[in-house]
Amino acid sequence: MQLSQAFAVVLLMGLQLSEVAASCSFNQPQRHCSCSLLDQDKLGNLFQCFSASVLELRGGNLEQFAGFASISVDESVIGILKMLNVTKIVFGDLLVPEVLVAAVMKFMPYMRLTELQFDNCTFLGKASWLPMDRVILPVSSLRFHKVTSSSLADRGQDFSYLSSWLESLRDLTVTQSQVPYIPCSMGKVFRTLRYLDVSENRLQDQSMGPSFCPGAFPQLQVLKLRHNNLSSFLATCETLHQLEELGHLDLSQNGLLAVPSSSCEWQPSLRILNLSATGLEHVPRPLPPSLEVLDKLFLSNNRLRAVPSPQNYPAVEALSLDGNLISCLPRGELRALRHLQSLWAGGNLYNCSCAGACELPALASRGPLVPDWPQDYRCAAPPRHRGALLKDALAAELQCSTAGAMAPVSVLLLSCLAGTLCLAQIRAWLG
Ligand SMILES: *[C@@H]1O[C@H](CO)[C@@H](O)[C@H](O)[C@H]1NC(C)=O
Ligand SMILES: *[C@@H]1O[C@H](CO)[C@@H](O)[C@H](O)[C@H]1NC(C)=O
Ligand SMILES: *[C@@H]1O[C@H](CO)[C@@H](O)[C@H](O)[C@H]1NC(C)=O
Ligand SMILES: *[C@@H]1O[C@H](CO)[C@@H](O)[C@H](O)[C@H]1NC(C)=O
Ligand SMILES: *[C@@H]1O[C@H](CO)[C@@H](O)[C@H](O)[C@H]1NC(C)=O
Repeated sequence: MQLSQAFAVVLLMGLQLSEVAASCSFNQPQRHCSCSLLDQDKLGNLFQCFSASVLELRGGNLEQFAGFASISVDESVIGILKMLNVTKIVFGDLLVPEVLVAAVMKFMPYMRLTELQFDNCTFLGKASWLPMDRVILPVSSLRFHKVTSSSLADRGQDFSYLSSWLESLRDLTVTQSQVPYIPCSMGKVFRTLRYLDVSENRLQDQSMGPSFCPGAFPQLQVLKLRHNNLSSFLATCETLHQLEELGHLDLSQNGLLAVPSSSCEWQPSLRILNLSATGLEHVPRPLPPSLEVLDKLFLSNNRLRAVPSPQNYPAVEALSLDGNLISCLPRGELRALRHLQSLWAGGNLYNCSCAGACELPALASRGPLVPDWPQDYRCAAPPRHRGALLKDALAAELQCSTAGAMAPVSVLLLSCLAGTLCLAQIRAWLG
């Protein structure tokens, strides 16, 4: 809404109302025009934004322009709007009366605008959205980051006038805006929403039920709930499993408690599940349907001590286990992941003793991409190797003798397969 308001200001300037000034710079190749409303040295150079496709308006208190809210859309303005190629407007660092936003919205149906973004904006007061009743805007992507407004709780009627537009919206992002929950009636309006990012807000387990009530967001494919205040993996599954088209769920950076097993089943559509940095000590169940169709599992930065049993996710294609407390990657277990194409397992506490030697090189030889090898793989034990690269420690361990005579040879072979030692060294070793 603030975006709309800033745009109203632009329009007003276009109409030669000299009260508002802006200093703009236009990046010709990118067709990006960036204006500061605070810097009033160069009056009126907003006109250089005429051919921009992205228009960014930053900085200012627009309270004094609330009176412009009564401006009406006349034919000459419509003519100008139809000529513009602006597809995205960013409103940033603004204090803006909601009535001004509502006023600017009236101009948007005549534009080619597909994206609206409000970044660090404070919306003041409440507007009536009645004039927007049954109006359809071309905007399909709406983003709010760090915004504050009056509570949405009792605004169902106000916002219902926007429903013709909102029910055609594809992407909605509301991040770092202290959102405690999404009213059920609002969620139901977003009938064709595919992407919802509500990361870094204040959603709790109790707010999941109303926010994702039956009938809300029926076509949602991507849902990002990163860094909220969710704690129950089970309750999250129970509320979200009705989203039949959900393919990507990000629960990272919530302090999750996982019950060892439960009867809740994730929808078969779920292919990407991000559980990074959720404090997990073991992998929660259920994972998406016997995990046969789970492509990507992100378990980075948790407190896992061992590789979770692959029976739970046999078809995984990408596995992130970096930043845990894992001391060894058991070869057999990882072999069971036949579809594994990439593995991140750096930043763990590897045991690099002869017997405890990790099997990562063997895995690397089997084909999957290990993008963080070798630089992120360091030894935590035994003391003689602490801090050393796993790759170097394995090479050094060739000197040690162990119970199994073949152990050093296999370590050598494994290392070689991982490309850390060359064939000549194997020949030398074998004499
Ligand atoms: C918008 O784009 C069209 C086609 O590229 C161009 O002819 C026209 O001049 C542009 N309009 C403005 C206001 O830059
Ligand atoms: C956010 O906007 C306010 C003006 O509304 C400004 O004073 C503040 O510096 C902005 N914050 C950031 C991080 O840009
Ligand atoms: C997180 O939720 C718990 C209750 O589930 C509450 O006690 C706590 O204050 C919340 N924390 C924040 C930062 O909102
Ligand atoms: C998973 O979450 C972590 C932490 O929020 C983030 O850094 C990472 O990019 C996410 N991965 C994907 C594929 O979204
Ligand atoms: C490392 O592995 C060896 C051999 O299995 C074992 O004796 C030792 O206790 C392990 N060290 C740690 C810190 O786990």
